Amino acid sequence: MKQKTVFVCTECGNESPKWNGKCPACGAWNTLIEDTITVSSSKGGANAKTFVSASTPATLSNISTSEDARIHTGLAELDRVLGGGIVKGSLVLIGGDPGIGKSTILLQICEYLGKNQSILYVSGEESQRQIKLRADRLGVQTENLKLYTETNMANIVETIQREKPDILIVDSVQTMFNPEINPAPGSVTQIRDTAATLMRIAKESSIATFLVGHVTKEGSIAGPKVLEHIVDSVLYFEGEQHRAYRIIRAIKNRFGSTNEIGVFEMGSDGLHEIPNPSLALLSGRPEGESGSCILCTMEGTRPVLAEVQALAAPTNFGNPRRMTTGIDLNKVLMLLAVLEKRVGLRISSYDVYVNVVGGLKMGEPAIDMGIILAIASSFRNRPLDSGLVAIGEVGLTGEIRSCNFLENRIAEAEKLGFTKCIIPSANSKKLRKFDKIELYSYNNIRKVLQDFL
Ligand code: TYD
Ligand code: MG
Repeated sequence: MKQKTVFVCTECGNESPKWNGKCPACGAWNTLIEDTITVSSSKGGANAKTFVSASTPATLSNISTSEDARIHTGLAELDRVLGGGIVKGSLVLIGGDPGIGKSTILLQICEYLGKNQSILYVSGEESQRQIKLRADRLGVQTENLKLYTETNMANIVETIQREKPDILIVDSVQTMFNPEINPAPGSVTQIRDTAATLMRIAKESSIATFLVGHVTKEGSIAGPKVLEHIVDSVLYFEGEQHRAYRIIRAIKNRFGSTNEIGVFEMGSDGLHEIPNPSLALLSGRPEGESGSCILCTMEGTRPVLAEVQALAAPTNFGNPRRMTTGIDLNKVLMLLAVLEKRVGLRISSYDVYVNVVGGLKMGEPAIDMGIILAIASSFRNRPLDSGLVAIGEVGLTGEIRSCNFLENRIAEAEKLGFTKCIIPSANSKKLRKFDKIELYSYNNIRKVLQDFL
């Protein structure tokens, strides 16, 4: 065993022999931190990369999958994000900002899971008493749940082997440490070692494991990003801590599709499912105000309607400010340039703020039209029709490009009582008939702005 100093990027996990201001692998700035690693002389130690035990070659028809039946969590929204439920022997990483609700949701599902499964909840963050108090509040009383507060992985592994739970929850990866290696808990080496150990146990003993990882803004402790390649699935919690909505998104899923989201609302007794997110995201929207537009984004298989708000105000001094929440800033900068150059809106001397209401993050092309309309509506100070939904990608010449799943999106808008929908004309040919919503197809944004503002 030999100790070696390396510099590890907290964003991508790349190791470099010397310190750099910029990570040579992912290009992030100021993310390298010093770490010591133990180089083992024998191959196949704790860091061995293979987790599946040795097998003999077999044809597909001879491989039994019957054990892969999904375990339901009691929360349909969570099951969907997991790809239909929990898979035995899988390691799922649950990431998110501190305080967003990771521990809450994991404790909450124990009540339903406890009906048929034994659960071991290992916490390195709270005392047994604190967790008990929270469990009381969440209505968790199952006898099949055991709480264990420990941070030393050697003891945890021993306990897992003794208890042999069906479901294991480890909260959080940043507090756990392996006493045999040097670095402090929370360093890249330690969290990788913890994840690798849990992955091995999950596979060997067929234990479905949830691993909590805090997303950290900067430096000293490493975030879940560096674990993404080790684990089977990665779910991230989105939303703002001080707002009620919480969105769980699958970033990686070996057992289902990614891009699915689950929507929840934080209440005084835990997280409540929101089966119809569009309705929730649209509640309380201002009517007859300028700078607000409804758009539709596809989240996996589901169309979700959301309100985008824009505020364009003359810049007082210096460079105009551009700020966004929930949408990529670069997308908005591009759309502003299109508005300026192709429509002739003199928006370069205006500060522009764009915000998706409700804490949803979206990056899909078909939201462009809605963003353009919200900005133009604020700039001209004219409200849009409150029954209007805008769908379509906008290109650099101001053209409106076709998008996928258009019928599903229109159907969702119709279901929620919207009466007008702007769609790309390239898509309009093959559409089925809609009774309650009128479709307006366009191929360029100039005409849309003329007709609707
Ligand atoms: P928590 O689940 O501990 O977050 P994490 O494990 O991701 O760090 O915290 C959730 C937050 O939600 C915390 O600020 C308290 C609040 N909360 C509620 O509003 N209602 C509840 O029923 C519970 C348990 C927590
Ligand atoms: Mg927690």
